[in-house]
Amino acid sequence: MKYLIAPSILAADFGNLEKDCKMINKSNADWFHIDIMDGVFVPNISFGMPVLASINKYATKPLDVHLMIVDPDRYIKTFSDLNAEILTVHFEVCNHLHRSIQEIKNNGMKAGVALNPHTPVNVLDSIIDEIDLVCIMSVNPGFGGQKFIKNTFAKISELKKLIELKKSSAIIEIDGGVTDQNAKELIKAGADVLVAGSFIFKSISPLDTISNLKSITN
Ligand code: DX5
Ligand code: ZN
Repeated sequence: MKYLIAPSILAADFGNLEKDCKMINKSNADWFHIDIMDGVFVPNISFGMPVLASINKYATKPLDVHLMIVDPDRYIKTFSDLNAEILTVHFEVCNHLHRSIQEIKNNGMKAGVALNPHTPVNVLDSIIDEIDLVCIMSVNPGFGGQKFIKNTFAKISELKKLIELKKSSAIIEIDGGVTDQNAKELIKAGADVLVAGSFIFKSISPLDTISNLKSITN
């Protein structure tokens, strides 16, 4: 089964980002997952443009940027200039989601939409064929290291059905609380991309942990 692993930089060593970026470059990981938080949409502030520019200086793999901010439309061009390949906005903050998605694509990026744990999949019924990636939040956004919410499995199945019904090419990303304990089941349920922060960076060998996640379905 083919699936992607996206280590979340939120759990990296901010005192030595160069080292952790180079570790991801060398690893079997596929993308860099980058969490941008504004302290308004979520009760935490992560980092902003200068840090993303540093990551971009070292990263040799696609930047998967997850915006946990209100009014993301204001920054779409900025993130394109910072080399984001995928730009994900939250459903809960977009009054004109169709327009936001078009803007992301017009700026040369793939468009992602993230759903909070309480947001049902069916809110995407009328827009799924425009979306490149749906990020199902398997924790409440804002912090790394939280406990995986089990209802995620039901949401993956439902989303998978919707994607097939509408013949959408959207892929499914799971973000939050991913470990070797749930990775296999998530892939089996239909996940295409697994984001993992603490599980990778708090492990003794992040390189080995990434390899293990990447081969967990074997
Ligand atoms: C949470 C972020 C996640 C986070 C995942 O708001 O969107 O990407 O970094 O961290 P872990 O894997 O530690 O749950
Ligand atoms: Zn994220």
